[in-house]
Amino acid sequence: MQKKIFLNEKDIPKEWYNIQADMPHPLPPPLHPGTGEPITPDMLAPIFPMNLIEQEVSTERWIKIPEEVLEKLLMWRPSPLYRAYALEKFLGTPAKIYFKNEGVSPPGSHKPNTAIPQVYYNKVFGIKRISTETGAGQWGSALAFACNQFGLESKVYMVRVSYNQKPYRRIMMETWGSHCVPSPSPDTNAGRKFLEGNPEHPGSLGIAISEAIEDAVTSKDTRYSLGSVLNHVLMHQTIIGLEAQKQMAIAGDYPDIVIGCCGGGSNFAGLAFPYARDKIHGKNLRLIAVEPTSCPTMTKGAYVYDFGDTAQTTPLLPMYSLGSGFIPPGIHAGGLRYHGMAPLVSRLITDGLIEARAYNQLETFAAGLTFARTEGFIPAPETNHAIACVIEEAKKAKEEGKEKVILLNWSGHGIIDLAAYDAYISGKLTDYAFPDEEIKKLTEKLKKIA
Ligand SMILES: Cc1ncc(COP(=O)(O)O)c(C=O)c1O
Repeated sequence: MQKKIFLNEKDIPKEWYNIQADMPHPLPPPLHPGTGEPITPDMLAPIFPMNLIEQEVSTERWIKIPEEVLEKLLMWRPSPLYRAYALEKFLGTPAKIYFKNEGVSPPGSHKPNTAIPQVYYNKVFGIKRISTETGAGQWGSALAFACNQFGLESKVYMVRVSYNQKPYRRIMMETWGSHCVPSPSPDTNAGRKFLEGNPEHPGSLGIAISEAIEDAVTSKDTRYSLGSVLNHVLMHQTIIGLEAQKQMAIAGDYPDIVIGCCGGGSNFAGLAFPYARDKIHGKNLRLIAVEPTSCPTMTKGAYVYDFGDTAQTTPLLPMYSLGSGFIPPGIHAGGLRYHGMAPLVSRLITDGLIEARAYNQLETFAAGLTFARTEGFIPAPETNHAIACVIEEAKKAKEEGKEKVILLNWSGHGIIDLAAYDAYISGKLTDYAFPDEEIKKLTEKLKKIA
């Protein structure tokens, strides 16, 4: 019985996988909201450094990971792959459950897999300061950590509801030398506008993105960094799946089902895209992307052109969306409260390569507790969504008497989210499904993509 499968440091992947090289249908281009024409790389130059813009539009299959980036990733990578024997036993399932533990990074999630390369490319381009948004604080803390590693300044706009719920994330960012403010903030035009309407505005990822972009384009030597959604971000995360493929080969298994939770799509894509490549080339497996019923972007949203932020300053992205005006309720999985979905994940859903599923808040925390009480590690509330799906699939395997192999992206630990567990255990959490009529209202005017 082998509980953990490690890779040697020398076997860390040296290239990222770019799924744009293998997609059955290419991505529709992002559009300029004014002209409706495809945007060109130079239009993104005030927001991102050109070396990352080049990665965003690249269709090269493999992109070399710079030595300086690998050196930093080795602080916690390759991450261990675990076999969840105790969870399997508790469920009485014939399924074999594996999980890739991304909670071992210094900030505690998969997010530094892209924070480190993004900050590196900004530094190489001569940028001195980075602005960003954060939901639950996982991305903000990852960016603060990465900026500290490479000696850049950072400012993080944190969705107010999470800022209030999760003070320890702010303290982590400050420990790494970052400046973190609640969003909407009085520091930007976008923030001031939302505060005028409601001084206690709970905020949303869409609003925080608007603030961080405004900061980048109006400040000296500053660029913006996004923790998910974009092509290059998903590509940086593929190191997870590339490692997992080597580790699963050591275990002598191949997954029937790959599962990850989805906020903007990056941790799911990170594990699933190398397997999606196998699927495109004929392998028979299922890839399941999991979201909350309170923010049902993939399961109830429309496949449209929409803005990436609430103040409508970004290009129009081809994605599943609930409408950029969507203000999600304050559920505890702050990292899953985004109105859109990565264009790459969205496209692969329309191609039938990825399935989407939604779970209620209470069943996700029940799943998280089951995991913590069997495997020991306390998962992030976002990760609990994927665990709920793993448990459902493992129970199905039991009913069908099939020895399925299930692979989970354990995207982060929940040690800094214990207030959410406290609320669940003391019966204060409720379920919430975003009403269908509201979604219809928010999306009916958006341009549908065939
Ligand atoms: C632990 C964890 N898992 C998952 C997510 C979802 O984000 P993404 O879909 O970009 O991986 C987040 C976002 O903050 C997170 O913190």
